[in-house]
Amino acid sequence: MPGGENVGVTRRTEVVELDPEHPDPEVLEHAGSVLRSGGLVAFPTETVYGLGADAGSAEAVRSIFAAKGRPSTDPLIVHVDAADSPLLVDVVAEWPDRAAALARRFWPGPLTLVVTGSPGIPAEVGAGTGTIAVRVPAHAVARGLIAAAGRPVAAPSANRFGRVSPTTAAHVLDELDGRIDLVLDAGPTTMGVESSVLDLTVTPVALLRPGGITLEQLEDALGEVHHVPRRVLADGTASSAPGQLLRHYSPRTPVVMVDASGGVSGELMQQLLDALCSAGVVAAPVDLPGLPDQAARQLYAALRDADELGVVLLLAPIAADEGIGRAVNDRLFRAAHGRVVSDAEASTVARLLSLVD
Ligand code: TXA
Ligand code: MG
Repeated sequence: MPGGENVGVTRRTEVVELDPEHPDPEVLEHAGSVLRSGGLVAFPTETVYGLGADAGSAEAVRSIFAAKGRPSTDPLIVHVDAADSPLLVDVVAEWPDRAAALARRFWPGPLTLVVTGSPGIPAEVGAGTGTIAVRVPAHAVARGLIAAAGRPVAAPSANRFGRVSPTTAAHVLDELDGRIDLVLDAGPTTMGVESSVLDLTVTPVALLRPGGITLEQLEDALGEVHHVPRRVLADGTASSAPGQLLRHYSPRTPVVMVDASGGVSGELMQQLLDALCSAGVVAAPVDLPGLPDQAARQLYAALRDADELGVVLLLAPIAADEGIGRAVNDRLFRAAHGRVVSDAEASTVARLLSLVD
């Protein structure tokens, strides 16, 4: 894994703009050939930008981990171009009826299914678990790229490990310029938070990460779904439960979640801001729209922009814990490293002050 900031910065990163709905086939062919020759290509999906490599090449996959500084214990999602694509057969060892039914209902779309992996896929992709996470993204550029490459594409979000996921090509360059070969820039992503990750290898099936397909939609399709609770892990360097790292999606400025549970969150927020201000600490709220879909779309850009505000502490109001709001709260909770406050008592304010000294 890269040690210093600049280790691994050796590539010239090409950026090509293309239409999100009708991408130029020549550009896709070029990008596909970069993937076939073992290169790294960042591309838009409906959720966030992904950092793609040929999932069949152990060397290419290892270069994803190196470019991101991601621990090899955290497995990657493999993307294929359609539910009935021959590429899917290369990726999974079995395709249970339940997977087929979910794929019919939600693909292409922001649902990732964890199943038993094919021995043909390098162990690095599933981080040695023997399982594989797979999805069909709902974005013409993503699907066109996979089809042009003719390979299943392993792609985590195109950010450095532990940082905020990218929803524009500019975000990708902020994180990975000089570490990857190509960025396909098709404008901002529409959904803004990542896919839901559903583990079909356990009973009851387990929602490992809430995302674009909501728990309510999954329960409607499946009946019982176990929602794996957020785990409070202190260091965030590795975890036996993939995707459960707490230190994740973090801006540089410390974040604390504000939960007014039942009360008026605007009031509690103002009390906290005032108390901090009296103590000489400049904090700011993470400003998100009230509508959950819009909050999801703007979440990561808001967290990135917050780093530019010149404040020392960010307070994030909790959203209603339903629908896509669950995904927004999950990411904010992780950005906050699990810190939540629910009152403006002196001891609470003291806790906040201790984060910034
Ligand atoms: O929307 C998305 O899912 C985006 C776009 C690019 O498709 N990708 C994405 O990848 O968010 P990444 O690597 O940032 O997050 C993948 C999540 C991680 O939490 C990882 O631990 C989990 O999926 N995951 C991957 N493979 C898994 C496996 N075999 N078993 C359990 N969890 C897995
Ligand atoms: Mg990620």
